[in-house]
Amino acid sequence: MRAPTMNNLDLVAPAAPDELCGRVDDLFRQRFGGAPDGVWMAPGRVNLIGEHIDYIGASVMPFALPYATAVAVRVHNEDRVRLASTGHQDHWEGGGADIGPHRPNGWAGYVAGVPWAMTYHDTIARIPGLDIAVHSSVPQGAGLSSSAALETATALAIAELFGAATDDSGRRTLARDCITAENVVVGAATGGMDQSAALRARAGHVMLLDCNTFGVEHLKLDCRPAGVVFLVINTNAPHRLVEGSYGLRRSRVERVCARIGRSALLHTDDVDAVLNCARTDDPPLRRALRHVLTEIRRVSAVADLLRADEIAAIGPHLSASHASLRDDLVVSSPELDTAVDAALDAGALGARMIGGGFGGSALALVRTERLPDVIEAVGRAALDHRLPKPDFLCGIPSGAARRVY
Ligand code: GLA
Repeated sequence: MRAPTMNNLDLVAPAAPDELCGRVDDLFRQRFGGAPDGVWMAPGRVNLIGEHIDYIGASVMPFALPYATAVAVRVHNEDRVRLASTGHQDHWEGGGADIGPHRPNGWAGYVAGVPWAMTYHDTIARIPGLDIAVHSSVPQGAGLSSSAALETATALAIAELFGAATDDSGRRTLARDCITAENVVVGAATGGMDQSAALRARAGHVMLLDCNTFGVEHLKLDCRPAGVVFLVINTNAPHRLVEGSYGLRRSRVERVCARIGRSALLHTDDVDAVLNCARTDDPPLRRALRHVLTEIRRVSAVADLLRADEIAAIGPHLSASHASLRDDLVVSSPELDTAVDAALDAGALGARMIGGGFGGSALALVRTERLPDVIEAVGRAALDHRLPKPDFLCGIPSGAARRVY
């Protein structure tokens, strides 16, 4: 999986679709016999900016990665869903009645939960008989949305096999179904960013996703002419959304935002005036609100800079977002802070933790010629602090979920 040299850098190689599909097709034939009806793949994502604000209906800016999950799927007539994965020893098999809130457990919930949610929302009529094999190159537990990749590849496969819409509006519906699968079947209270990114991203672009209406504006991320690259740093610190403190932070944010009108939350320039409106002396609540207010404003500043083709100028906003997540929302970790500080010290234009926090990955915007120094510095800092050795991935803005054959 590791590319020995990519400009002599130790970067995890992006997924070659042929390799992904070959692996998943092999597993399918081995486990279930015969050929699948087709193979679909969906990408992992990073979030450029807009953290912990999707679930209050604000705008966020994810883009898809060139690392993806492939599913090989076949429909049959028995009341059986059978699942196999190259990444998990435990295969799962059950009938429609075995799928529902909080069941099945573990990785199977992310796959079996999808036809359940599609039935729940009437996207399809009933849970069909399915054989599904899975193979992924999205690192798990790295905060790069391996779970959304799994859900959305499955959803797109089922939609196409059962004639549900898969144009942009159909994909918006599928994203909703996948969110329900994750919230209800898996029991993880995540927002809507990850599933929308995996289903609706566009190569070479970042999505400006309005999580209130789920409308999207695709903004160009022209890295090459600007002489910059996005580096993804997987800190390899374990990251858990179901049991972690994500839910706690989410309810803190939701509670305090409920006191503020939507218009003040999104549009008022005077952040201190809005903070005072919340009438809270509780420091964590007040700081959570400050994170939300400042992050919303950073998202619009970054969107404006990208519309003006000023990609290199977004760096300070990324770093400010990290400081806010670290100090105000308190969702960072020593591994993330160490990686971000080292990247900035080595000349990155901006860097921040991404995703829910408490471990996972960081994103750095780096001038192409500084990339070796940044990689070296982040690796060395982890070693010096006796932290896990990070992996480095290519943050190339990539395309959305698709059928491969
Ligand atoms: C996780 C969730 C997203 C979002 C981020 C924080 O990735 O799945 O919905 O809330 O955390 O921005």
